[in-house]
Amino acid sequence: MFRRLLLKKDISLLLSGAFDESTGLRRALSTFELVSLGVGGIIGAGIFVLTGHAAAEFAGPAVTLSFLLALVACGFAGFCYAELASMMPIAGSAYTYAYASMGEFVAWIIGWDLILEYFLGATTVAIGWSGYVVSFLKDFGIYFPEKLSGPLISYNTDLHSWHLTGNIFNLPALAILFIVTTILIVGIRVSSRANTAIVVLKVTILLVFITTGVFYIKPELWHPFIPPNTGTFGSFGVSGVFRAAGFIFFAYIGFDSVSTAASEAKNPQKSLPVGILGSLAICTVLYLVVSLIMTGVVHYSKLGGAAPIATATDAMGLTFLSPLIKIGAIAGLTSVILVLALGQTRIFYAMSKDNLLPPMFSRIHKRYRTPHVSTMVVGAAASLAATLLPIDIVSELVSIGTLLAFLIVCAGVLILKYTRPDIKRTFMVPWGPVIPIGGIISCLYLMAGLPLGTWFRLIIWLILGLIVYFAYSIKKSSLNKIA
Ligand code: ALA
Repeated sequence: MFRRLLLKKDISLLLSGAFDESTGLRRALSTFELVSLGVGGIIGAGIFVLTGHAAAEFAGPAVTLSFLLALVACGFAGFCYAELASMMPIAGSAYTYAYASMGEFVAWIIGWDLILEYFLGATTVAIGWSGYVVSFLKDFGIYFPEKLSGPLISYNTDLHSWHLTGNIFNLPALAILFIVTTILIVGIRVSSRANTAIVVLKVTILLVFITTGVFYIKPELWHPFIPPNTGTFGSFGVSGVFRAAGFIFFAYIGFDSVSTAASEAKNPQKSLPVGILGSLAICTVLYLVVSLIMTGVVHYSKLGGAAPIATATDAMGLTFLSPLIKIGAIAGLTSVILVLALGQTRIFYAMSKDNLLPPMFSRIHKRYRTPHVSTMVVGAAASLAATLLPIDIVSELVSIGTLLAFLIVCAGVLILKYTRPDIKRTFMVPWGPVIPIGGIISCLYLMAGLPLGTWFRLIIWLILGLIVYFAYSIKKSSLNKIA
């Protein structure tokens, strides 16, 4: 039994197509579109909303340092993703890599865990989208009923109990998920074009903020750069910088979604590493500069609201820019939902191709050449989750799930370095084992900083995954044919 669980997919077979015969998906994405997919998945609630909270509550101007700290884990993981994507340019991302390096059981765990990153990520951002749109409409005197825009249940952290809120459902979240699902079904080209258009819009808006903001910086607002600790661990001081790093890690999530689109890339071995590392590099530069300007034009204590970048433009006296920034944020959140939902359907696709999930998840629409049934299931389930769940609970689960995936990807690089040095890699992580080991340690470190409740929910989720695996997947698995 133990040997069965460790049974791996042979990478040579995988690459020769023996496992993943004709995919039916359309190879339509260029390198530029893959970079754009990465940027589309990365820039969203993290920079437009969470940065302000991180500055106001944990780190002050040193939130820029927190971005650098969070980058350490993401940068290490990014390199590892790039190597594995160049080695196994097949849909499924971390799930596929784990299958080849650590066997079916770990692959299943990671595939199940990735639901937290992609599915719950899309759900979280859809809830955030709803909140942002409702507040944007309020700026124009349009009041959206709270009962139709809030969660059905909420969690009281002091009392450790769930309760009904009296809301009916989250209509804006439902609407955006419906639109995104439709775009995803209609085709990868349409999805990619929609994403690129949104990326151009949101990056332009951030560039406008940077190029105007730079003239309004008051360097005295950066002193002290790391505000003194208030006496509570994580509230400013060095511990605050680390706490903020865990909090804004969310802002980097999404670069790995480039690897989920491997089966739709025109030249995956070359363009996937560029897509992953290129998008991460672009967003890092933008994050560092935007956070520096934000805390340089307005005192960090004022950035805790829902739209901190708009607060900063208001402080510059450029109130006319504020609606533009909010449109940028709404656009940003939209493409994150699109890219994360896309990633989820492609991971389900790979798991279903291996018979670990029912065949409907890999059924491809004849005309659109997309996994339409899977996309509809993901869209419907995300709508239900967005209606039911409160954002704070789900967002930390997204972070812990993503960190676990990053950790396993780093371990995969390490294992394959020694077990399969023969396989051709068009991109190789430099400095031997340093980066993968650094990745594992930094992911563990960030995971350790997340609340116990989040760990508890992760464990419950993984136990649920084990039940599904032993009750269904192991019996149906493609590996049974060769085991
Ligand atoms: N990185 C994505 C965001 O910030 C998930 O919204």
